[in-house]
Amino acid sequence: MKIYKNYIGGKWVSSSSKKTFFSENPATLQKLGKFQLSNKKDVDKAVESARKAFKKWKEVPAPKRGDILFKVAGLLKRDKERLAKLVTVEMGKVINEARGDVQEAIDMFEYIAGEGRRLFGHTTPSELKNKFAMTIRVPIGVCALITPWNFPVAIPAWKIAPALICGNTVVFKPSSDTPLCAVELVKVLIEAGVPKGVVNLVTGSAEDVGQTLVKHKDVDMISFTGSVFTGEYITKNAGLKKVGLELGGKNPIIVMEDADINLAVDGIIWGAFGTTGQRCTAASRVVVHRKIKKKLENALLKRTKRLRLGNGLNKKTDIGPLINKKALEKSARYVSIGKKEGAKLLCGGKIAKLKGYYFKPTIFAEVKKNMRIAQEEIFGPIVAIISVNNLDEAINVANSVRYGLSSSIYTNNISYAFKSIQDIEAGLTYINSSTIGSEVHLPFGGMKDTGNGTREGGIHGVEEFSEVKTVYVDYSDRLQKAQGVE
Ligand code: UN1
Repeated sequence: MKIYKNYIGGKWVSSSSKKTFFSENPATLQKLGKFQLSNKKDVDKAVESARKAFKKWKEVPAPKRGDILFKVAGLLKRDKERLAKLVTVEMGKVINEARGDVQEAIDMFEYIAGEGRRLFGHTTPSELKNKFAMTIRVPIGVCALITPWNFPVAIPAWKIAPALICGNTVVFKPSSDTPLCAVELVKVLIEAGVPKGVVNLVTGSAEDVGQTLVKHKDVDMISFTGSVFTGEYITKNAGLKKVGLELGGKNPIIVMEDADINLAVDGIIWGAFGTTGQRCTAASRVVVHRKIKKKLENALLKRTKRLRLGNGLNKKTDIGPLINKKALEKSARYVSIGKKEGAKLLCGGKIAKLKGYYFKPTIFAEVKKNMRIAQEEIFGPIVAIISVNNLDEAINVANSVRYGLSSSIYTNNISYAFKSIQDIEAGLTYINSSTIGSEVHLPFGGMKDTGNGTREGGIHGVEEFSEVKTVYVDYSDRLQKAQGVE
């Protein structure tokens, strides 16, 4: 079995723990390789190497840093099919979506590379004569990037690209469910010419690698995508580091009485069962107007029953496996919770009799907004239908959860649409499309417990990974005091 190493200071190195762990294909349970089960010493070395490289990297002109990122985008394009297959093999999502995962990384590197020629600050008049005022962007320092398995190429790209363009260096700790995708992404970065020490990869557990990074004195920033539980841990333990968090979702699709039902069903299927429900933007609640409830339920049920579970490499597969056994058990647990709470199971609700971690696409009807299946993030192919009498009630249900990432409404009524844009508490609101499918040049992130107010993507990604410095240049040749002090 192939052994993969950490990448520290420009070298592939083994962990001093001498221990490894496996990554496996969730569709076949085949082992894909051994990875370093790193410890605190490895983290210290990676941080030290990132700190050392920072001195030089921050002095490379941003457009030159951008040239390297353009090369990364080009290499990812060249390798798109190979990497997409790897995403499917290691993470399980169907091949078409895996191509999307890699494409998102290509888009992000390409978009952010161009930022190398912008990284805008602003200028503004001073209140005093012969004085110039402006802002510039400067790097933060060493950024620890802790990433999940559900977008094993795209989400690291969301973080690595803006971190690098701003002149930061990186310690990258990928999820232990998808370390192979991380290794392959790092290989592409190396081939594109990212200098030694600028990106360091350390694989291993949350306890030994993640927590050490969070508490590390020489790490300046933590960027994390994952659970609220870990987000809270980071907030409590990161001290005064800059922290960017992108946590969970319990995203609603509202379907009003005037909606195009077929269009809404397309959006629900894609939002609830795409990526086997394993996106933080997944549509896990459908909030439907009572008048069309039956019609929507029937249409949704018919379509759901036709979905084919299977290995994501097979072109005919609609839904791949869940990531691991724990995820499978979690979905099963929530089905029994839903049944106990009195929700009506319309279909699915079972672990499929296949090798691999397959769970049948599941619809619960007659769900009440306070039930646990309507409140808690399941991260599986389970959707809860809640019926309402009007838009106010729909928005109230939409807002009744701790999360606020994505949201959607299907309607042709312009005031329904704009009221939703105004009142839904979420970082993203879609009109007449599903909750998933963000574009890289727009901000991505959520309100309430979904995060701490930071946004990734677009110009906001650049803001997240840089500090703003205010600069005054006084060329009056005398001491001028602000605020009119004589
Ligand atoms: C996530 O699941 O962490 O728009 C993010 C989307 C994806 C992002 C998912 N590009 O659904």
